Amino acid sequence: MEPDSFKDFSKAMSEYIVNYLENIRDRRVLPTVEPGYMKPLLPDEAPQQPEQWGNIMDDLEKIIMPGVTHWHSPKFHAYFPTAQSYPSIVADMLSGAIACIGFTWIASPACTELEVVMLDWLGKMIGLPEEFLACSGGKGGGVIQGTASEATLVALLGAKVKKIKQIKEQHPEWSDSDIVGKLIAYGSAQAHSSVERAGLLGGVQFRLLETDSKRQLRGETLADAIKEDKKNGLIPFYTVATLGTTSSCTFDHLDEIGPICNSEEIWLHVDAAYAGSAFICPEYRYLMKGVERADSFNFNPHKWMLVNFDCSPLWLKDPTHVINAFNVDPVYLKHDMQGSAPDYRHWQIPLGRRFRSLKLWFVLRLYGVENLQNYIRKHVALAHEFESFVQTDPRFEITEEVVLGLVCFRLKGSNEVNEALLKRINGAGNIHLVPSKIKDCFFLRLAICSRYSESKDIEYSWREIQLRANELLDEQTLPK
Ligand SMILES: Cc1ncc(COP(=O)(O)O)c(C=O)c1O
Repeated sequence: MEPDSFKDFSKAMSEYIVNYLENIRDRRVLPTVEPGYMKPLLPDEAPQQPEQWGNIMDDLEKIIMPGVTHWHSPKFHAYFPTAQSYPSIVADMLSGAIACIGFTWIASPACTELEVVMLDWLGKMIGLPEEFLACSGGKGGGVIQGTASEATLVALLGAKVKKIKQIKEQHPEWSDSDIVGKLIAYGSAQAHSSVERAGLLGGVQFRLLETDSKRQLRGETLADAIKEDKKNGLIPFYTVATLGTTSSCTFDHLDEIGPICNSEEIWLHVDAAYAGSAFICPEYRYLMKGVERADSFNFNPHKWMLVNFDCSPLWLKDPTHVINAFNVDPVYLKHDMQGSAPDYRHWQIPLGRRFRSLKLWFVLRLYGVENLQNYIRKHVALAHEFESFVQTDPRFEITEEVVLGLVCFRLKGSNEVNEALLKRINGAGNIHLVPSKIKDCFFLRLAICSRYSESKDIEYSWREIQLRANELLDEQTLPK
């Protein structure tokens, strides 16, 4: 492609993107295509000769868009949000142009150095204790992982290496596999599936502990589990506390869990994948009380802070253990500056890494902290607007406290009727929700996801839910 064609192509794409996003509200949020829809629309083989870029533009609406679920529509309320913004899209363009692989400092010094500073900026924005920050001059610092799932696994592997080393000092006669067989990790029964999966991938036992009536993991429950497991010869080494669970956005009692982990020498990891963005607002920091006790902390600006996927910062008070866990040192990756700056290849599972900190730099500078705070506050306010709608209809109930941008609700009655309601809502395709189930109670989750969400959209979603409930309940009362 010639440079002038690139300019024309990217201008046309910018036009297309703006049109797509600014009118996204008018699209059906869920596609109607069937599996395999795309194959007949594409040739069987790649073209032998180059095509014109205009042909690709022509195909977007014909081939791609019919199969897109519009995650940034204000009618999309499923899962948790995934973030997106113009500054972040432009940063991704530049990252694509520089296209470096920043595995070591020398592989592209700017890639490492911007990441170090951005993670200090971001850590300060959410009120992380100094010990997590590189600017403190201590051991601590942050690294951008791809996802929260990777962060949980990386921290678990660091904790595993740390504990094996510690136990070997006490029992030099024990082999690594003797020790690994006894290691046990903990999380709440409400933790994300990636937490249990980290245990599977890390080859250790993982115990999911019951929560209290508010779905929160309590210190006492953890202490009892540790006592029991130690009695049975196991070695507790890792705990994940979740701030903002996926099912219902509840918060484990970090202030109770932390002191227990510290006194038992158990690595404490905080998974704040969704809720972490809210901590840029001081009024939500009470939810992270006790964070100074943690060894590692992770959240996803790619969920709720206007940074496009993927961007999942992980802060470590002492990265040495993670570095030890992953350190293999082939000659071709060594360089003269080793030790003077982080070589991020030791802080993550893959070797390769993109220049992701550009997205943070662009978003933080072009929004400013205040606008990001306003964004979070607006979403929380919209969630409360939806909560109020639900409370005005006596057929419905709110099932969990609304703390941030997620509302859990259901029709009063059986799980079956709620399953039927959800099927109708998603079948109509005007809005999109996913459900959850806690202790056999099936409920619907409405997350505020879009940067285009306004009060009128929340009202639209509520009217749509009421309409589908009316249809369902009318049908059920009709004589058969
Ligand atoms: C609390 C929590 N932890 C972890 C994850 C997994 O996030 P990721 O897709 O970044 O791995 C999620 C996803 O929604 C989540 O809500």
